[in-house]
Amino acid sequence: MQVVQLNSALIGNLRHQRSKGQSIALVPTMGNLHQGHLQLVKRAKQLADFVVVSIFVNPTQFAAHEDLDRYPRTLEQDLRQLAEMEADLVYTPSVEELYPAGSQTWVETLGISEPFCGSSRPGHFRGVTTVVNKLFNLVQPDYAVFGKKDYQQLAVIRQMARDLLMPIEIIGQDTERDSDGLALSSRNQYLSPDQRQLAPMIYLSLQQLATAWQQGGDADDLCGQANAELTAQGFDLDYLAFADPLSLQPLAPEAQQAVILIAARLGSTRLIDNLECSRG
Ligand code: PAF
Repeated sequence: MQVVQLNSALIGNLRHQRSKGQSIALVPTMGNLHQGHLQLVKRAKQLADFVVVSIFVNPTQFAAHEDLDRYPRTLEQDLRQLAEMEADLVYTPSVEELYPAGSQTWVETLGISEPFCGSSRPGHFRGVTTVVNKLFNLVQPDYAVFGKKDYQQLAVIRQMARDLLMPIEIIGQDTERDSDGLALSSRNQYLSPDQRQLAPMIYLSLQQLATAWQQGGDADDLCGQANAELTAQGFDLDYLAFADPLSLQPLAPEAQQAVILIAARLGSTRLIDNLECSRG
């Protein structure tokens, strides 16, 4: 497994792989890898001959008050895990490498990035689409693999790839969970032991909402009740809503397919999760 920091080294290496007819899959990450990330790498290896993993804590997707400074950085451990997974190349650029001095260009989707995390984290998706676009330009992958835990991020990236005619297949990989249902996330380690005990209620609520909706319940009423219950337990919700799984627009009353999206804080830790469901 090769580890490169410079764009020139990345481009040179990938030119060589492409000249041998190898297909390329990219797994963009911010490091601090857990089983969820490793499943993305596994999926990438099933799809392509050559797997590139990027590790870059992207400053432009964090607002000033967010956790950029304390975001866990565990490069050595990450590299060990990626070597075990037999990733082919790891790209670990500096901020200057991805954002050359004087950068003025942003990539931004509109509608799909506006609700949910787009309104509770203004500017977040602009940072994501800009850095993912840069990674796509450098790597020019055939496939790019993202986790479904960041459901809206995946939808935003699919929209960007479609709109900008990127010849890249965007793959969504199912969420990995702890045995109690909590979605794996690098931010789970911020939770105190008490908060960690409460956190699986998020997924439990999603499952209960899906069942109640499948039995004919009204999406808004159900979310109102679940919101009140979670709030009573000490969660502070940014949002909890059913949406159309492709457009993320509000759910039509006759809809048969839905995704339930939640962002909830426990103390200063913001957790997100989602569940796709269907009825009829
Ligand atoms: O999901 C993440 O880890 C990040 O948002 C991504 C896609 C690597 C962009 O920085």
